[in-house]
Amino acid sequence: MQSSTRIMLAAALALGAMPLAVTAQPRPDFGQREFNAKCAVCHGLDGKGAGPLAAHLKKAPPDLTTMAQRNGGVFPVAKTYAAIEGAGGGHGTREMPVWGLDYTIQAAEQLPDLPYNQAQFVRTRIMALLEHLTRLQAK
Ligand code: HEC
Repeated sequence: MQSSTRIMLAAALALGAMPLAVTAQPRPDFGQREFNAKCAVCHGLDGKGAGPLAAHLKKAPPDLTTMAQRNGGVFPVAKTYAAIEGAGGGHGTREMPVWGLDYTIQAAEQLPDLPYNQAQFVRTRIMALLEHLTRLQAK
């Protein structure tokens, strides 16, 4: 195992263990926790777009539970990854934060003295979010 992988694993385990100590409720997974902490404010806890901040945006946050439905029943993995990462900037105004950049900054703040793979730090989080989003898809 690469040392960066081992550090990521240790960090994920440490993060995962925290809520257990505080509460007896079932432990939410990493992707769900990221989503609830960073995305639900706009997209809603259920992903349908009715988060508390939604009314204050110029553009309504899209319903993230219909992404597969709107794509012929297949969850659009690459497109969604790109939408979250925000690389390339896209066109026009973007109200959605650029999470790739956000995670890059977060990595530098959290792991200032540890060797780590920055791209992997970002990718791990976006992949966890994608996994959570696939579970939110309307059947
Ligand atoms: C400040 C409000 C806000 C937050 C926070 C936010 N989003 Fe968004 N999101 C939007 C808006 C608004 C759009 C529509 C495109 C745009 O204007 O940028 C969008 C678009 C998207 C899309 C594209 C959906 C589609 O149908 O193409 C995805 C996927 C997405 N968001 C996921 C997330 C994830 C995952 C997070 C948390 C890491 C998140 N969003 C956090 C407001 C937000």
